Amino acid sequence: MSTPQQLYAWLFMLLSAALFHFSNGGVAGIGTASSYGPPYLPTACYGNDQSQFPSDGLFAAAGEGIWDNGAACGTHYRVRCLSSRESQACIAGGKVVTVKIVDNARTSVSRPSAPSTIALSKTAFTAIANSSAGSLNIEFERV
Ligand SMILES: *[C@@H]1O[C@H](CO)[C@@H](O)[C@H](O)[C@H]1NC(C)=O
Repeated sequence: MSTPQQLYAWLFMLLSAALFHFSNGGVAGIGTASSYGPPYLPTACYGNDQSQFPSDGLFAAAGEGIWDNGAACGTHYRVRCLSSRESQACIAGGKVVTVKIVDNARTSVSRPSAPSTIALSKTAFTAIANSSAGSLNIEFERV
């Protein structure tokens, strides 16, 4: 038998987990990153508009969980390289890159290197990992 205190603690944990899950759906978590393109145009968010791309080249196509029927367009995500199947693909220390969502990974003109949570532009991908890696395990967060 558990004490009422244990029961409350358990209920609290369950509630917290549920709240965390719902408030972070598609917005933060652990996932995978691939790379894609060029060509990058046209995109599902902004068509052929050249000005959609940040001048630093740090942009991405959203995978299923992030895309949210296009609501992800123009939002920014911070992506940290955690590990990969290829050994040592992450730049030492686990670099972070912040990208702007401009496309849907499922329909992008250039196909991503692997199905993933987020497909990073070549520039964004190489900012955090060895460009010859196909897929990275990442931590991501909307900013
Ligand atoms: C990137 O990965 C390739 C293939 O695994 C490897 O040959 C190369 O040395 C790596 N480059 C760097 C800079 O680590």
